[in-house]
Amino acid sequence: MSARKIFATTALPYANGNFHIGHIMEYIQADIWVRFQRMQGNDVNFVGADDAHGAPIMIAAEKAGVTPQQFVANIAAGRKQYLDGFHIQFDNWHNTDGEENHVLAKEIYLDLKKAGFIDTKVIEQFFDPEKNMFLPDRFIKGECPKCHAKDQYGDNCEVCSAVYAPTDLINPYSALSGAQPVLKSSEHFFFRLSDPRCVEFLQEWTQNGKHVQPEVANKVKEWFSVRTNPDGSTSEGLGDWDISRDAPYFGIEIPDAPGKYFYVWLDAPVGYLASLKNLLDRRGEDYAAYMADEKLEQYHFIGKDIVTFHTLFWPAMLKFSGRKTPTQIFVHGFLTVNNGEKMSKSRGTGLDPLKYLSLAMNPEWLRYYLAAKLNGRNEDIDFNREDFMARVNSDLIGKFVNIASRAAGFLSKRFEGKLAALGAEGQALLEQLRTQAPAIADAFEKRDTARAVREIMQLCDRVNAYVDANKPWELAKQEGMDARLQEVCTTCIEAFRLLAVYIKPVLPAVAQQVEVFLNVAPLGFADAQNLLGAGHAIGRYEHLLQRVDVKQLDALFEAPPAPVVEKVLPGGEEIAQTIGIDDFTKVDLRIAKIVNCEAVEGSTKLLRLTLDAGEGRMRNVFSGIASHYQPADLIGKHTVLVANLAPRKMKFGVSEGMVLAASHADEKAQPGIYVLEPVAGATPGMRIN
Ligand code: MSP
Ligand code: ZN
Repeated sequence: MSARKIFATTALPYANGNFHIGHIMEYIQADIWVRFQRMQGNDVNFVGADDAHGAPIMIAAEKAGVTPQQFVANIAAGRKQYLDGFHIQFDNWHNTDGEENHVLAKEIYLDLKKAGFIDTKVIEQFFDPEKNMFLPDRFIKGECPKCHAKDQYGDNCEVCSAVYAPTDLINPYSALSGAQPVLKSSEHFFFRLSDPRCVEFLQEWTQNGKHVQPEVANKVKEWFSVRTNPDGSTSEGLGDWDISRDAPYFGIEIPDAPGKYFYVWLDAPVGYLASLKNLLDRRGEDYAAYMADEKLEQYHFIGKDIVTFHTLFWPAMLKFSGRKTPTQIFVHGFLTVNNGEKMSKSRGTGLDPLKYLSLAMNPEWLRYYLAAKLNGRNEDIDFNREDFMARVNSDLIGKFVNIASRAAGFLSKRFEGKLAALGAEGQALLEQLRTQAPAIADAFEKRDTARAVREIMQLCDRVNAYVDANKPWELAKQEGMDARLQEVCTTCIEAFRLLAVYIKPVLPAVAQQVEVFLNVAPLGFADAQNLLGAGHAIGRYEHLLQRVDVKQLDALFEAPPAPVVEKVLPGGEEIAQTIGIDDFTKVDLRIAKIVNCEAVEGSTKLLRLTLDAGEGRMRNVFSGIASHYQPADLIGKHTVLVANLAPRKMKFGVSEGMVLAASHADEKAQPGIYVLEPVAGATPGMRIN
């Protein structure tokens, strides 16, 4: 059989945060599958990239005070430690703002346009008049039209779960500026998903049993028919897809449409091709020729939350721009931690992958554990600490690793590491292990690693039963049993090598140690069909894998200690409760000139100020600053007046406002009171904002 030619990707993570354990799960699933394919002798290019574009990243970059490009580059710089740490072996890691993606996205778009699949429509949307930009739904907030909860997002209410349009919000405001958004119309570009050619193609493509898992096909089927939305309205089959956004936007400019950009989800999957092209260009291979190969198979590993994009939009974009469509979309479920605690999509909680590594927890424990749970369907799986410990310690180490340690010592010490020929019993055992190769390969191929691991563990059980029945440790003590001891240990080692072949996609580093220990070239899947053979000398056995220590799990899930910050009290007191801008603007602060200042007879605290706030009349204000200022210090100076404070009748007369002065809360600890004075140039009556 000739080698298959495979192009595989994982979803491209948003470049607005570090990887969480959900991302790592996806990469481990894909990496196991890719390693298995390579062990079969297949030719695989496995690529990933950062998904760099979109409004949230643009806004996050602005907040961080850097360009979006810098922001994305900072995130990208952190990727390697995760990927290397978990033995995830991408051939390339690129990003969707790369040159290749700009070129490819535009080409695909222009081909779609030429084929008549692009429309324009003028639509009305909320616009932030202060930020001068159209607001994505997530950046519009307001009062829920159903339950009147305040500060709800533009698409749904987190209190009553109502779904609505941003225009339904009561008193909407921009989450970016606080401004009241205005409706503004703008021309948008649409991909005509509703075109009968497209609907027909997608129905066939998603339902013919070839490209998506059955449970996914069932879900997708609903999207073709008339359906009732959560808010009671109905939607009719596939709607056209809005693929443009107005400037300012971090993305790829649409050809011949100044100020219009591709919506991030248009160019994101194109990033798969861009990353591949970037890889092939660097290797001096021809991208066009590679893609044109009829034999090429294309696979995308994704999570269940992004199925629409990968089973409708992406295949349709490829098909109607005259390109090759994916061979299959592999959908997995979500990973939860310690009993279903839901992880936020962008900010997974519970199990921090870097913390895992920093605790010297072995990455292959996690790979093994996830492999044992993932079955190729889109079901959610849970990381459970007790289950994790049991599977790693009892199965992986107790059943698999122990086989080698039970036999290797005798061979090295007594037979210079040399293997003997197998006896009849040994041959029968090896034959049992060998015949499982197709079933195990089938399980790996279908990403049913749970089944593969189960099969492998059952084979381990058989080998261990053989060891228990033949007791090499007793043979070692008996006179004249050398040949038998060597034969039994040979059987163990031959069996162990076979098992190592089977588990190698899951445990690449362990497999590599095994190859060194057994003194063999890198193992391929076909090596399950042969033997080391009599006379082969193995190397010295070194322990392959530690057990999980419960203390590591305790540490992993221990909440990080609350940072001990010594409470800083600025000026001796806490900052007051937060107010809205509306509260602040209620206070009318004006520049006032101190035209006169005098002592108040009968008071040691007060000075009487005569203030000109540009009103064409003078104000009389009493201020408790006599301990610190002589009247002459202040006459002629400008200061700040609270101009709309209700007049107050005092013992010495009416005070018509208040001047601003600074002081420490603890007068004794830090005496002094300082009247505010504007920088030169301010004139009476100017408002302070
Ligand atoms: N940027 C888009 C994908 C564009 S693909 C052209 C995106 N990024 S993401 O960072 O939010 O998600 C990346 C992948 O991680 C998705 O496949 C998503 O399903 C997966 N996961 C996110 N949280 C997850 C879990 N808790 N468990 C498993 N996978 C999860 O969506
Ligand atoms: Zn509500």
